[in-house]
Amino acid sequence: MRFITALAYAAAVLLAGIGAAGAQEKLLSERGDVAIEDESKVDFFRPERDSDPIPRNFQKQPPLIPHSVKGYNITQNFNKCMDCHSKERAEETGATLVAKSHYLDRDSNKLKNISPRRYFCMQCHVPQFDARPIVENTYKPATRRGE
Ligand code: HEC
Ligand code: HEC
Repeated sequence: MRFITALAYAAAVLLAGIGAAGAQEKLLSERGDVAIEDESKVDFFRPERDSDPIPRNFQKQPPLIPHSVKGYNITQNFNKCMDCHSKERAEETGATLVAKSHYLDRDSNKLKNISPRRYFCMQCHVPQFDARPIVENTYKPATRRGE
């Protein structure tokens, strides 16, 4: 009996879900209503102006990049980001020194140079553009307990 009730409940939830999905408006990709094989005429986004550091939304969040990254290339031999953000250069350039974690290997041994695990900065840190979100976003930053 209890099993049947659960089943009926699951079916009701499923049906309600299908109904809600059907009522949603069609999502348009950032490329506009253009087939994958066609060329989009949409103007792509412009980087936001350089700003002060952007407040973080949760602990251990990789901070967002508050400046343009145009021409800041990372190659096998040279990491343009570290040209400003390394411990040798940070004071002179005014860039935030990369976190200590960025000089540790996976066994937490200290390294002289940036860890290979952190070499490709934009794997985790992202620059900002004037893109509009495709769907409404109701995310709120995490608060500390008690706040
Ligand atoms: C020409 C120097 C320069 C280069 C190159 C550079 N940055 Fe920066 N970066 C800065 C400065 C200066 C700040 C601090 C901005 C401020 O305080 O207003 C900053 C801030 C940041 C922050 C924010 C730190 C925080 O605590 O919020 C991140 C993340 C960052 N940069 C990542 C990068 C990445 C990734 C690259 C390479 C793609 C890069 N930067 C290249 C100078 C540079
Ligand atoms: C694997 C993800 C990852 C990569 C790759 C990475 N970072 Fe980070 N970064 C983080 C996280 C997470 C934090 C914040 C937590 C911490 O301090 O470790 C951070 C913090 C920072 C900060 C702020 C330090 C502070 O004291 O507030 C800067 C600046 C920064 N990273 C720059 C860089 C640069 C430049 C590179 C490339 C050379 C890079 N990161 C690569 C994840 C990453």
